[in-house]
Amino acid sequence: MKILGIETSCDETAIAIIESKNDNHRVLVNLVSSQIKIHSPFGGIVPSLAAREHQKNLIPILIKALKENKMLKFNFVKPKIEREIKNIFEKQPILFKNFLKYGLNVKTPEIDLIAVTSGPGLEIALWSGINLAKVLSILWQKPIIDVNHLEGHIYSNWLEQFKNLNPKKVFPALNLIVSGGHTQLVLQIDHGKYKLIGETLDDAAGEAFDKVARMLGLPYPGGPEISKLAKNGDQNAFQFPRPMINQKNYNFSFSGLKTAVFYLLKKLNINNNLKLKADIASSFQKAIIDVLVKKTIKAAKEFDVRSVLLSGGVSANELLRQNLKNEVEKLGIYCHQPNLNYTQDNASMIAICGYYKYKYGKGDKTLINLTAKPNLKIKNWN
Ligand code: KG4
Ligand code: ZN
Repeated sequence: MKILGIETSCDETAIAIIESKNDNHRVLVNLVSSQIKIHSPFGGIVPSLAAREHQKNLIPILIKALKENKMLKFNFVKPKIEREIKNIFEKQPILFKNFLKYGLNVKTPEIDLIAVTSGPGLEIALWSGINLAKVLSILWQKPIIDVNHLEGHIYSNWLEQFKNLNPKKVFPALNLIVSGGHTQLVLQIDHGKYKLIGETLDDAAGEAFDKVARMLGLPYPGGPEISKLAKNGDQNAFQFPRPMINQKNYNFSFSGLKTAVFYLLKKLNINNNLKLKADIASSFQKAIIDVLVKKTIKAAKEFDVRSVLLSGGVSANELLRQNLKNEVEKLGIYCHQPNLNYTQDNASMIAICGYYKYKYGKGDKTLINLTAKPNLKIKNWN
């Protein structure tokens, strides 16, 4: 079956089409329109700007995705449902205008399922994707499945790696999800069967990278900038705290680490001393990764898992990938990590998660009353 994925939870407008057959998957097209340049001057994401950009970008990239797959055919008869569509897009006038311009007459393509992110994320950003999914579902008469963005990250691991791998060799799995908004350790017994075992009590790992980058005068998003700078630094130059590293629970806390960097910078007066900056970046990065790896390994042992799956935007970090893999493999189990094309927010991960939820899930699969859920938690569906 072919699945259209739609992702607008934060600052990336993403559309993908994947083909899934007997739990094997092929990404046919993966398009992401990033808003980094728009939010960068503000040092973080501005929700109203994100929502406006999604409205502007969604239809053009949907059309491009269909075109690239030779799925774009026009049907020049205007459907009677224009009024219904107008109502759905009531709060997205730019999206409605774009839809009338390009999308209304698109003939039903060979898409079997529409998967869309319903949360967690910025509410006004989520609505653009959700409403587009609803409209396409009405127009094309195809089912919609709602996807939790964090579960999408988890399933980015399944896009290529597990092609021929028996899920019996994967589950029970321990997921370490590290993104800009979340840091969680989630035990996964099977598709759609989860147990949250730990999460951050304050800043998410990506958020800590972004905030420390800002203190060092680096642009947003800070994670890739810090890891680049850290390559020229000494990771032992400064001994930053490793919060909660030895506590019995699996929760995290990164705000103290961020504050430690803040006070060091106040004391040092680094000006434009690049070597010093690199040492701070490297020591900070090592501290955060030490905590993530140590707690993940401890949980992997306690819950006796068959594999560890890394995911989320911070999973692009080379040192984290390397250190986690080394330590997990010492336990004699697999460490899976998403292909670097799918570590950042994308819609292929939403499409593949939608596939599993549609195939194995017990919930509602025609979610025309779907709403945005900014604080959505991972829930069991199997
Ligand atoms: O998952 P994601 O694309 O968006 C959210 O769902 O939040 O994650 C974005 C986060 C940002 O905080 C960014 O700084 C971080 O991922 N990130 C990294 C790296 N690449 C992206 N953090 C550390 N090292 C990286 N190489
Ligand atoms: Zn994300």
